[in-house]
Amino acid sequence: MAESIDAVKQTALAELEGVQSAAELQTWKTRYLGGKGQLKDLMNRLGSLPAEERKAYGQQVNALKDALTSAYEAREAALEAAALDQALASGAVDITLPARPRQRGHLHPSNQTLRRIYDIWADMGFQVFLSRDVEDDDTNFTLLNFPPDHPARDMQDTFYTTEHGVILRTHTSPGQIRSMRAYGENGTQPMRVILPGMCYRFEQITHRSEVQFHQVEGIAIGRNIRMSDLKGTFEQFVKRLFGANTALRFRASYFPFTEPSMEIDVECFVCGGKGCRICKHTGWLEIAGSGMIHPNVLRNGGYDPSVWSGFAFGMGPERITLLRHAIEDIRYFWANDQRFLHQF
Ligand code: PHE
Repeated sequence: MAESIDAVKQTALAELEGVQSAAELQTWKTRYLGGKGQLKDLMNRLGSLPAEERKAYGQQVNALKDALTSAYEAREAALEAAALDQALASGAVDITLPARPRQRGHLHPSNQTLRRIYDIWADMGFQVFLSRDVEDDDTNFTLLNFPPDHPARDMQDTFYTTEHGVILRTHTSPGQIRSMRAYGENGTQPMRVILPGMCYRFEQITHRSEVQFHQVEGIAIGRNIRMSDLKGTFEQFVKRLFGANTALRFRASYFPFTEPSMEIDVECFVCGGKGCRICKHTGWLEIAGSGMIHPNVLRNGGYDPSVWSGFAFGMGPERITLLRHAIEDIRYFWANDQRFLHQF
């Protein structure tokens, strides 16, 4: 028996020496190590041996299996190395070809703008307050001093849910009430927060309007806050976001929750105020609504308006991004087209 194990080993290794291709190697493997191969034959003889010989015999067959397996692996590695050498020598593989660049993910353009906005307000002591997207009608409108017949309450503008009074917020301003109640400690503490988040409006989607968009709201409440504080603070913000030489102007406007109310325009950062397609040849771009917080709103947030005052502003980061890069269509923002996103 020991002789035949030895004989198999001799022939197998000798044949392996002569193997020159992957196909030949496979044939060799089947012949010796395969399910019906010679090693299996040797193993099958175990049962016919006298009991006292079985252990030694089994060990010898196992040793043969190990020897053939490692000889096979060594031969396989040698053949692969030879094939690679040959491919390199013949020029089939060009090792000087640069690797394909890997594409890395990055922040969505809206998030890039949002983070710049957070940074600037954080430096001025404004904390981020995340208010809810799903609001109630009262907080979105009534507590913000919207008269009952105000057109913004119209079904055209608001996404109503099937549950009575539960809506998707149409702006971040309801966060004014929620943050006042959370941080104001019953109207005893001054506060400065920004309220970023997604807003939703039931509108026709066009290149100029989407049903969802971000806003960043900001409020500051204190004992002696005046309109000059709003102007000075917002001017600092604009100069940091758009550049130290950017001019801005305030235009009288109307919002139910601020009095007086103003739109804030910045000098067109595309043409530098000379007039272009983006600013519709006016030299100015409207970037935010703002005003002094209406006494009714302060009261609804828990503050006594005879003691406390505050300013508020709200802006749209998509609009800012859009203007800044002269993007013509707001629908790109949520279309997830990589060709658009990769440009930022
Ligand atoms: N909520 C207003 C809007 O959606 C913006 C705004 C915020 C105006 C705060 C004044 C003060 O247009």
